[in-house]
Amino acid sequence: MTTRMPFVGGNWKMNTTMATATELAAAIRRDTADLVRSCDIVLCPPFPYLPAVAGELAGGGLMLGAQDVSSEPDGAFTGQVSASMLTDVGANVSIIGHSERRRYNAETDDGINNKVRMALDSALWVVLCIGETLEQRKAGNAIEVILQQLRHGLMDVPADQMRQLVVAYEPVWAIGTGMTATPADAQEAHRMIRFELKTLYDGGLADSTRIIYGGSMNASNAAELLGCEGIDGGLIGGASLKSDEFVKICSIAAEQYQSKQPCEGTPAP
Ligand code: 13P
Repeated sequence: MTTRMPFVGGNWKMNTTMATATELAAAIRRDTADLVRSCDIVLCPPFPYLPAVAGELAGGGLMLGAQDVSSEPDGAFTGQVSASMLTDVGANVSIIGHSERRRYNAETDDGINNKVRMALDSALWVVLCIGETLEQRKAGNAIEVILQQLRHGLMDVPADQMRQLVVAYEPVWAIGTGMTATPADAQEAHRMIRFELKTLYDGGLADSTRIIYGGSMNASNAAELLGCEGIDGGLIGGASLKSDEFVKICSIAAEQYQSKQPCEGTPAP
């Protein structure tokens, strides 16, 4: 039985308006009041709506996250947002290394590592995203790719800061496509990530680090994925924009917390 508290994030990406963002945050806050003790829940709206969403979430036990953060502390970096600006407006988490930023903003593993270290040093929690493309999976390189992203993303991150870090395994081909990884494939990737954390740090740290899954997770497939030992939550895109759907995923994560079983077809570690 796992002792890791589940972690569910809503990545709203470049969606919502001021009105719909605050409405969505208020509805999720209202309907997760009973869940926040058994599931860490973070909402990640677009930057301009962070302060307003912070207002809606105040005192409700949910966390507020940004979708990215600068690796620089301040200065002439047009368009960037620093970690201290995020904490200033009430954010306590940042997603870093999302595949959409790797792809559309040419983010590299080096740049991502700089962001991870800056965020952790600024007391933000980090959701570090890693995942392979379909071509990489078809070529049989999925595990090699994600472990390389993991090792690079965590370079020079000391063990005592890993408490602030959640790893999100998000296979690129599953994001926004309606295609999820099979539970056994996702579980195998999570198992390899955890094993790598053991190599990089130690067994205790590998056991306590949350590894969550992202890619077309919704209220209908969440139970199957979140029921797998080693899948400690989800990073949700499309389904996080509907409060009922997102709250259902959070409640499934909270329920599964005490009753994890290895998935059929997955070899024991
Ligand atoms: P979807 O849930 O829309 O596939 O997006 C997943 C994701 O990218 C979360 O960061």
